Amino acid sequence: MKFFLDTANVEEIKQGLAWGLVDGVTTNPTLVGREGRDFEQVVKEIAGIVDGPVSAEVIGVTAPEMLEEARKLAAWAPNIVVKIPLIAEGIKAVKVLSEEGIHTNVTLCFSANQAILAAKAGAGYISPFVGRLDDIGHDGIELVEQIRQIYDNYGWGTEIIVASVRSPQTVTRAALAGADIATVPFKVMGQLFKHTLTDKGLAAFLADWEAYKKGQ
Ligand code: E4P
Repeated sequence: MKFFLDTANVEEIKQGLAWGLVDGVTTNPTLVGREGRDFEQVVKEIAGIVDGPVSAEVIGVTAPEMLEEARKLAAWAPNIVVKIPLIAEGIKAVKVLSEEGIHTNVTLCFSANQAILAAKAGAGYISPFVGRLDDIGHDGIELVEQIRQIYDNYGWGTEIIVASVRSPQTVTRAALAGADIATVPFKVMGQLFKHTLTDKGLAAFLADWEAYKKGQ
């Protein structure tokens, strides 16, 4: 499973890259807005430091608007993937963009049927929002399992990005479900390293080693 960082914060991305864990980045209008920087500038900077796909989202809600924005975004850097919302106009746009060779990430997916539409339109990626489903009492990973099975049934190559990740537990479940990618906030990526028994065990090893050296 690949890891994407779900952030528009360059410092977080640099830290993730230093860990050797970042295969790509996803952004959305909320994440970009949080940085208070120029959209084009921040997306170009991220695309320049990440050796992998960087998703940038369109704002338009009609197919012509999305197509115009998508072509502009895709021209900013070769690794830019255009994020398109899963609405009828979005699916229309994805079909055209896939024929033009522009990579797309279909976002805001909350059902298996929506994921079928994205794959049939030629989306490069589908982003089921697991955490937002969990928030309303569903089991978001069940949707990922359904999409995995459907895509495998038909040999569809659209990659599944588990999005809206709130906890390390979701990362484990995403991997068990056979997701291609988990896009995780920086905080969650950091939490993946953590286990109290690791910290406790390491402290004991170091203390024992000090005692051993003193006895030499
Ligand atoms: C992914 O593509 C989205 O940007 C993101 O995962 C949404 O997460 P949220 O539900 O925490 O806002």
